[in-house]
Amino acid sequence: MNILVIGGGGREHAIIQKLKEDPRAEKIYALPGNAGMAADAECHPIAATDIPAIVSFAKDHAIDLAVVAPDDPLVLGAVDALSGAGILCFGPRKNAAAIEGSKVFAKNLMKQYGIPTAAYETFSELDKALAYVETCPLPTVVKADGLALGKGVLICETREAAREAVRSMMEGRIFGDSGANVVIEEFLTGPEVSVLSFTDGETLVPMVSSMDHKRALDGDKGLNTGGMGTVAPNPFYTPEVAERCMREIFLPTIRAMKAEGRPFRGCLYFGLMLTPEGPKVIEYNCRFGDPETQVVLPLLEGSLLDIMLAVAKGTLADTPVTFSGKNACCVILASNGYPQHYEKGFPMTLPETGENERIYIAGAACKDGQLVTNGGRVLGAVAVADALPDAITAAYALADRIHFDNAYCRRDIGQRALTALGGNA
Ligand code: AMP
Ligand code: GLY
Repeated sequence: MNILVIGGGGREHAIIQKLKEDPRAEKIYALPGNAGMAADAECHPIAATDIPAIVSFAKDHAIDLAVVAPDDPLVLGAVDALSGAGILCFGPRKNAAAIEGSKVFAKNLMKQYGIPTAAYETFSELDKALAYVETCPLPTVVKADGLALGKGVLICETREAAREAVRSMMEGRIFGDSGANVVIEEFLTGPEVSVLSFTDGETLVPMVSSMDHKRALDGDKGLNTGGMGTVAPNPFYTPEVAERCMREIFLPTIRAMKAEGRPFRGCLYFGLMLTPEGPKVIEYNCRFGDPETQVVLPLLEGSLLDIMLAVAKGTLADTPVTFSGKNACCVILASNGYPQHYEKGFPMTLPETGENERIYIAGAACKDGQLVTNGGRVLGAVAVADALPDAITAAYALADRIHFDNAYCRRDIGQRALTALGGNA
């Protein structure tokens, strides 16, 4: 089969390597991919958002399955365009991708269908939003409606900060038109859990849970990033919590989407907070998480290609999805200075990897035949082991065998999970 993966980061590298394990995956193309994955996929410099170019590439290369991984092409309608050209796709159509593309839509859906989430108000007028901020409980959370590279959420401790957040989004348009509407919501507390799921719109199968580490510095300090590391499974996500999430959140969400005429097919990501009142939805994503995918897919047994085909064709109920029961840890090696200013273009040296190790490249280019850094997040060093402490130790041991100038990583990925395990023991 000829497979096309849209996107070019560490998540896409993990998807491609997993797809490649199936002997039917004869040829894998990535648009645009990156130089670090050139051994696994044929990369072509077509932007993930250039939908007409993607469709014509897919037609020219007789693509049997297209996997659209990033949020922006999904929200722009890449799956509608590819399907319209007769190409089988893994990923939601535009009307279902709105579950991530519009926080106002997602919040209203949850309210209408009784899915637990933070209490909220939505605003399209600056004056009304500012008036609300004068009386709402503090801290409060101000969110831009649309996509904002994961940065559109501001947690405000004071009224002044909340006023500033509303003004910067609605008036200053720091996130462009994504801030034309805002959601102002209740501040929740509790451990966070990411659950990715496969769904064909009828059947939903959760993948193993995971824990992201979004802040740049150790101890969850510093700026929010795209994610500095992950572990899976997430020890806070017990079988009881999982059962409750399935009943109160996962199934109600896919039923709601179907009832709204927006059946969701693809990977639906639940960003959950385990509050004292029970699990609540912090956010939905219409795609695989990055870097959650880098720890979840190495634990998947069997063929990802089979599952993706089943999702695309609507036969997920007949397709086994099993996880190994092992643990995985991903340490992101970033360019020092990320998520703000950083230099790139430093030569990278990659070691050979053992059976329980993976290196997923997120930001690399090729210069004079040499792999060089080309992004804020450069790569993920991933290790799998029977027990979480061993997976963490092995991921850091791998990270320490990788060299490029200006490399930076957090040193405490997985520590919160270990504390939770210690507490439960
Ligand atoms: P999001 O982009 O929606 O995942 O939000 C980014 C981060 O902001 C989340 O991972 C949470 O840590 C935090 N966050 C979002 N919404 C809330 C909320 N209602 N209460 C507390 N923290 C939140
Ligand atoms: N790691 C969070 C996300 O992919 O949005």
